Amino acid sequence: MQTKLNITPSKKLLNLPVYIFAELDEWKEAARAKGVDLIDLGIGNPDGPTPAPVVEAAVKSIQDPVNHGYPSFKGKETFRQAIAEWMLRRYNVTIDPKEEIQTLIGAKEGLAHLAMAYTDPGDINIVPDPYYPVHSRGTWISNGDVYHVKLETKNNYLPDLSSIPEEVAQRAKVFFTNYPNNPSAATVTKEYYQELVDYCIKYNILLCTDLAYGEIVYDGYRPPSIFEIPRAKDVAIEFHSFSKTFNMAGWRVGFAVGNKEYIRALYSMKTNVDYGTSTIVQDAAIAALNLPQFHIDKIVQKYQRRRDFMVEGFRKLGWEVSFPKATMYLWLDVPEGYDSKSWCKMILDKTGVVFTPGIAFGKYSDDHFRVSMVQSDERLNEAMDRLEAANIKFVMDR
Ligand SMILES: Cc1ncc(COP(=O)(O)O)c(C=O)c1O
Repeated sequence: MQTKLNITPSKKLLNLPVYIFAELDEWKEAARAKGVDLIDLGIGNPDGPTPAPVVEAAVKSIQDPVNHGYPSFKGKETFRQAIAEWMLRRYNVTIDPKEEIQTLIGAKEGLAHLAMAYTDPGDINIVPDPYYPVHSRGTWISNGDVYHVKLETKNNYLPDLSSIPEEVAQRAKVFFTNYPNNPSAATVTKEYYQELVDYCIKYNILLCTDLAYGEIVYDGYRPPSIFEIPRAKDVAIEFHSFSKTFNMAGWRVGFAVGNKEYIRALYSMKTNVDYGTSTIVQDAAIAALNLPQFHIDKIVQKYQRRRDFMVEGFRKLGWEVSFPKATMYLWLDVPEGYDSKSWCKMILDKTGVVFTPGIAFGKYSDDHFRVSMVQSDERLNEAMDRLEAANIKFVMDR
């Protein structure tokens, strides 16, 4: 007879709020089981192939047995050099490839480990809401507390620093930001970044910026790196990802750049839990950073075409929505009478179209839902036709 044991996961794991994307997966599974033809505009998974020269570089690399052993913790020198050159070319900022870069198994991993490296139980980290989940979860996993600053249309979805209580600012350890923003598609100005750098210096807070959507930008908009701001190196660390820019979400590669002290702490945390990015993936990533620009333009033009089509489509259905300057997301109001989950569930049940409820991105975001434009033009067309046929409209007299 088997003995019944009582081995439970840690309280910090059990106390984490439900990951809404896991719940969304359950909804989708149930719909598929009923034979529904789903159009998944829920998760932000880029739908195109990785550019051919990147794949070719990986194939070449995998054939060399030298690359079959453990990679280096920091990332290979040629990869760090390629990153420094990219940062100079792209943002005109100088990064020391020896001490100011940490390569990552995707930005998500780095963001979680950065939070763990800097958070003791009871520390406070500041995270604007809506947020990409790991920005809060890394802190919670470290038994820290998160202070959420509500992002509002009236402030262009930039945190109102004056709204943060003095005692929170005094105690805060890390301030996470993400522009261009997932899920709201909001963008940031250099003037605002200057304010944020000054604020973090004043309060001795590590500023952690997430530039995962740095290249998914339209209409001539160029998002700044935090290091374009004077003195940012004193206080900031910035995360970059290959997932969206180069259609490489499945390869798991990214990097952090910044002050060597913060990079060193991230490195130390990582040396305890992983062995770094596969050398084969690093070789592919070097090829990606050196791709001719037209490869990136092609990816961006595809999203731009979808954005134009979807904005027009939602406008016809009654939403007041402007053309976002970046990301592959639309962030739309939930009509009166619903919260974000009941709204998305109703749409899924009636049309088979999947959107992400705003509550997935924070407690203040339950009045919004996110549309990910990660399906072909034909499928997006079909999705809009289904919404129209099901009489899904925006009606509001709040
Ligand atoms: C804001 C933001 N940061 C980071 C990531 C994750 O990047 P990576 O795939 O490099 O882990 C995502 C993915 O959706 C994101 O939206």
